[in-house]
Amino acid sequence: TLCPVLHSTSMTERMNTTEIFDGVRFPGFIHTPESLKAACSFQFQDTDILLVTFPKSGTTWMQQVLSLIFCEGHLWPIHNLPTWARMPWIEQISFDSLHSKRNTSWPRLFTSHLNAKGLAPALMKSKAKVVYMARNPKDVLVSFFHFHRIAGFLPNPSSFEDFVDEFLEGTGFFGSWFDHVKGWLSLQKDLTLFFVTYEELHQEPRCTIRKLSEFLGRPLGPKEEDIILEHSSFSFMSQSNIVNYSLLSKEIIDQSEVKFFRKGRPPSQPPSKYPRPILGPFYPFFVCVCFGLVGWLVGW
Ligand code: A3P
Repeated sequence: TLCPVLHSTSMTERMNTTEIFDGVRFPGFIHTPESLKAACSFQFQDTDILLVTFPKSGTTWMQQVLSLIFCEGHLWPIHNLPTWARMPWIEQISFDSLHSKRNTSWPRLFTSHLNAKGLAPALMKSKAKVVYMARNPKDVLVSFFHFHRIAGFLPNPSSFEDFVDEFLEGTGFFGSWFDHVKGWLSLQKDLTLFFVTYEELHQEPRCTIRKLSEFLGRPLGPKEEDIILEHSSFSFMSQSNIVNYSLLSKEIIDQSEVKFFRKGRPPSQPPSKYPRPILGPFYPFFVCVCFGLVGWLVGW
């Protein structure tokens, strides 16, 4: 029932447009100058919880975890409401419509991809809690590259090389990953902010969720933790039509070749047959010393 919000004619017309706001490019399909401006002057309440991420850093995953923490074992929203409806993006066109349908028994839960410069002034006027989730830039880059291929509202990248250049220069959609992470990290003292990484949630999910729930003032029992772990696992989420974005039309997200839930893994370790990275630039020197030793031993 919430999909029509994203399927209105005015939005379809905006499919391939770009909005530039404060020097940063945003997909015009889901953003307008008004929606972006409104987000920057949004009136946060002290009890609000805002999840902030650079795209492809595990936003959907953390939306699922946060809503599971607050649903107190009542799983109806988890099985019936998409994550973007449970925790709408404050800067997107659909925000007002989704926000008006929100679950009033929860604290107000929001999401944003905006940078710290844009959003911090509004946030600093309240004691709202911010959860900032970061992921290593290599995986964000690869995931974002594939997302550009499946999202109808983002241009198809010309090549991976060009996409890497754009990412490193910070000229791509949503701006610079480096400025985003640096900007939000620099506000740790000014905001009530919990910094968490995709990698730690992957490696130590129970411990990370426990720390997060304590930060949110919602300590969990072991049974509740089990429920959260089960419903936020990659296998559960990738199979759930409610969270895997398959409810959206092919024009918006076409998953016939690449899935939204693509890999869901942190970077793999370098294969052990390669020299340990610690040798790095000294590797040729190391090889020469070995040859020298062998030569000396056999009396060359
Ligand atoms: P990959 O494209 O590397 O697979 P976002 O929600 O910010 O757009 O991020 C999407 C990325 O988070 C995708 O990464 C997706 O697979 C991954 N992801 C989503 N849910 C996950 C989960 N439960 N466990 C691990 N990774 C998850």
